[in-house]
Formats: sequence, structure tokens, C-alpha cells
Amino acid sequence: MLASRERQRSLLPALAAAIFALSSLFVGAASASPSPSDFTVHSISVNHELGGAHHKLSQLHLVQQPDDPAQGKKYYIGLSAAEASSLSQNEVNLKFGPGVEPFQRATTSLRAEGSVASSAGSADLTHLYSIDLPENFLEKSPEGIATPNITISIDFLFHRLASPLPKLIGQTDSASLLWEGDSVPRTPYGANKVRVKARTPTSQIHSYNLAPSFPDDAELMTKSGATITVGPQVNVQSILTSPDIQQLRVHYGYESPIVSIVDLQRHVEVSHWGDNLAFQDRVWIRNDGPGLKGHFSRVEHQLGAFLKRPSKNLLTDFSIILPSGAKDAYFIDQIGNVSTSAFRGTPPNAAHITKPAYQLPADQASYLHLQPRYPLMGGWNYTYEVGFNLPLSKGGWLRSLKKGNQYTVAVPFYSAVRDMPASKVKTRIVLPEGATPISVHVPFEADSVENEVYTTYLDTIGRPAVVIEKSRAGEAEAANVYVQYEMAAGADLLKPFVVTNVALLLFIGAVAMRKLQARG
Ligand SMILES: *[C@@H]1O[C@H](CO)[C@@H](O)[C@H](O)[C@H]1NC(C)=O
Ligand SMILES: *[C@@H]1O[C@H](CO)[C@@H](O)[C@H](O)[C@H]1NC(C)=O
Ligand SMILES: *[C@@H]1O[C@H](CO)[C@@H](O)[C@H](O)[C@H]1NC(C)=O
Repeated sequence: MLASRERQRSLLPALAAAIFALSSLFVGAASASPSPSDFTVHSISVNHELGGAHHKLSQLHLVQQPDDPAQGKKYYIGLSAAEASSLSQNEVNLKFGPGVEPFQRATTSLRAEGSVASSAGSADLTHLYSIDLPENFLEKSPEGIATPNITISIDFLFHRLASPLPKLIGQTDSASLLWEGDSVPRTPYGANKVRVKARTPTSQIHSYNLAPSFPDDAELMTKSGATITVGPQVNVQSILTSPDIQQLRVHYGYESPIVSIVDLQRHVEVSHWGDNLAFQDRVWIRNDGPGLKGHFSRVEHQLGAFLKRPSKNLLTDFSIILPSGAKDAYFIDQIGNVSTSAFRGTPPNAAHITKPAYQLPADQASYLHLQPRYPLMGGWNYTYEVGFNLPLSKGGWLRSLKKGNQYTVAVPFYSAVRDMPASKVKTRIVLPEGATPISVHVPFEADSVENEVYTTYLDTIGRPAVVIEKSRAGEAEAANVYVQYEMAAGADLLKPFVVTNVALLLFIGAVAMRKLQARG
């Protein structure tokens, strides 16, 4: 059924034009502003996959090739403020006409273009993103036949968009989440037809509605299993001229803990002398699920575990997957060594280093299984430190380049934990003393990449370090960062005397230990 939602668009054209003029006062630094007449959009279909720690969204835009190619190099889309601030990853796939030839396809990503007020005086901001269309998508076909369509498919991954409702529940109760999002996509061009779907992880949908509500809302929505569909709606207006968008609200059951890494600080030391890459991660995790009503009862918790009916929204344990060759792993928290952890290492394998650890075959990856001191209830947080070593040259992490005294070290940016997105990751890679960084290759868009000098009491002049920060990291960021550097001639051998003395002491200590062990 096609329902034209005229009531949302009751503005007179002249008034709309005036509002458009006002709303073109961009809040952010948009490089060029889109105009509703740049593109004719045949249809947009939107699919939300509601979740807990993650939320997936895909949009499919069917767009007519513009008559004037100059107008349409950039195609804009919009997200709500909540979506923009939770956006973690995106991928754009473009197809021109039938899309059978390689030049009729392209893959790219979104570029942030600042934000714009949806209508005059509205507090609702739309964050604009642009997509560069390849030149040949805009060329007129020489035969002058009907203009082909351009298909734009965008996949988004957001961190947590739904929030617990109720906010507090009993220890053994099930959690429910409320998601609220746009019932029509934000497009500066308007669209002939749009459809929005939201699918919940289980078929447990407590309620769904549009807000603010209108008498014919029920006709516009259908529910089938775990999917709510809004529309299709026809003749949808440009976000630049439309009043605030009706919100789709879905209240659904969620049966897993919703845990995120609030902050992760990785410290890595590269040692040529020790042939080692030493990792130390300081991690703060939090259960973002509903808080606990009343007190935590360990008896009830243990009874639940005994009856194999554990509470579904608390986190008792999890695993960190480490690269092949990881060794000497430890897990400590504020109280000290956590003995309930288990580590299973695997031999180093240089052929594996380009694969993120979580993608390694089960028998090749090293596992660190962590069980915090107490189960993590909703609203609770836990801080801990995890460390391990990787064999530098034997593991294939260090390559020496032919040219002079140059090296490239590969360092995993962080260890992604399944279903635990990281709000903020900061990784410091400390190079050996005497090294001069030449270049840093980061395979994703980092918030910042900086050089600094890292000094401890053992250093005489400090060591060069590279510090990389990224907010809203996920599995895509659990990749290697490559740092290329040059060692001053002889720096590998001639350690400043402080280090040499300490090294000598350690060496004598190690020899003594070995002698003792040999005797024992
Ligand atoms: C483009 O898509 C629209 C809407 O589906 C369709 O009516 C039109 O025929 C398509 N144009 C071409 C050239 O395929
Ligand atoms: C921590 O525990 C592990 C094994 O449970 C042990 O090997 C290690 O020595 C302990 N470390 C400290 C600092 O107590
Ligand atoms: C942990 O949670 C409490 C509230 O439950 C909060 O006050 C505190 O700042 C949080 N952060 C850390 C690092 O413990």
C-alpha cells in the first residue's frame, strides 16, 4: 500500500523555499552544499538490524543519472546526530546501469561534510556525508538512450544505538532495549519512494510506534515476525525543506550482555636486543545493559549457574584472541593477579602476521581466557591489565630493509574482543633507542597519529614513540600498524652505559637462575 504522507508536508512551497534558504546556513564546515534539484532519487530502502553493542544499517539508493554531470559529482546522504556520533564503520558500493563490467562498479566510503539544521529553528541536526561518483557514471551514453540508473548501496556499523528500558531490572530478569530512529531516510534530494525496515534480534517485540503519532500510523506499519516495516511512503521531501522526521520506536527483548570497552590503552615496546615485542593493555570495560535493581546476590547467581539458567545480561567471562607466537600472558586487576585466567599459546608463524588474530584458524591463534573477579552486572565496570610478548624477528613482525639500517615493524593496533566494541583506543609504539621514525602506515582513518619521545628512568635520552588514537574501534581496526624507522649506525650494539649495566645484571641473574634450575 502506498501512503502519501501529505500531512508531514503541509508547508506551502514558498514557505518551504524560505526555510530552505535559512537552513542552508550550515552548522559544520560543509565544503559545498547539496541542492534538492541535483538528483532525482527513484527509491531508497533502509534496513536496520537492531542489536545491543552493535547496530547495523544498510541503505539502497536507486538514483537517476543527472542530466547535468557537473551538478552531480557528489551524492549526499544524511544521518541523525545520534547515528553520526555512534558511526564506527561504513562501506559504499556503487553500480552503474547493469553493473556487469568492472568499470560499472566501484567501492568507496563516506566523507563527513558537517551538519545542517533540518528546518529553521529545529534543534534536530542532520549530519551530511558525501560520496564521490566516478566520472564515467556521469557520462552520457553515446546512443542517447534513456538515462541509466545509479545504484548506491551503503553499509553502516554503529556502536550501541538502543538503550535499556526499563533502566533497572532484577538479577534474573531479562533485559529489554528501546531503539528510536528515523522513519524516513534523510536525503537532501527527496525521493519518489522510501521504505524503512527494522529487524530485532529475537521475535520478542514488546511494542512499536511512530512518534509524534498520527491517526493513520497503523496503516503505514506492518509487523512480520521480527521485522517492522514502515511504508512504502511516496514523494518524500528533502531533509533541507521538511519538518522534523517522525521517529520509529521499537521496544524489544535482548538476551545477551551489552558490554563495551570504554577505554583501551596499549603500550608496545620494540626491542631489537631482546628480539621482542612487549604488549601491555590497560582496559576499562563496562556493562551497558540495564542496571541491577536491589543488591547482587551471589547465592542466586551461583544457583542460576548450577541450574544452567544463568542470568543473560551479566558477563562472567570472555576470551581475547592473540596472534600466533604470543607468550608470557598475564591478567591483573586492581587487587592483583587474577588466577581464574587461562592462556593457551601457539608457536610463532610469520605467515600469519597480516591476518588479524580474530581471523586466525582456531588452532593457530593464542587464547587468553579471562574471568573477572566478579560477574559484571549492568552498569558495572571493570578495569584490568593484560600483557603478552611476541617474538620480534622469529614471529615475522620485524623486517629489515635492504636500504641502510632501515626496519619495518608490524604492530597489531589492538586486540578486538567479540561483541565488545571499543569507544576509544590509544596505542603507543615505543621504538628502540637510537631509532628515527621514517613513516607510519595506519590501515584505517585514525583520529590522530603523533610522534613523541618516551622516557623512563632507564633511558638516557628517551626513545622515539608513535602514538595512534582512534575512537569507536571495531574489528576493522584490529589490524597491523606498520612503522618504518632507521637505526643510527651502531645503535643496535652500542647501548648507552645505563642500559648495558642493567643488561649485564640481568644476564648474570639469568645465568645464576639457569644454574640453580639445572641443579634442581
Ligand atoms: C530506473 O529506475 C526506475 C525506478 O525503478 C525505473 O522506473 C526506470 O525504468 C529505471 N531506468 C532505467 C534506464 O533502467
Ligand atoms: C600470576 O599467576 C600466574 C599463574 O596463575 C603465575 O604464573 C604468575 O607468576 C603470577 N604472577 C604474579 C606477579 O603473581
Ligand atoms: C564505574 O562505575 C561507577 C558507577 O557505577 C562510576 O562512578 C565510575 O566512574 C565508573 N568508572 C570506573 C573507571 O570505575
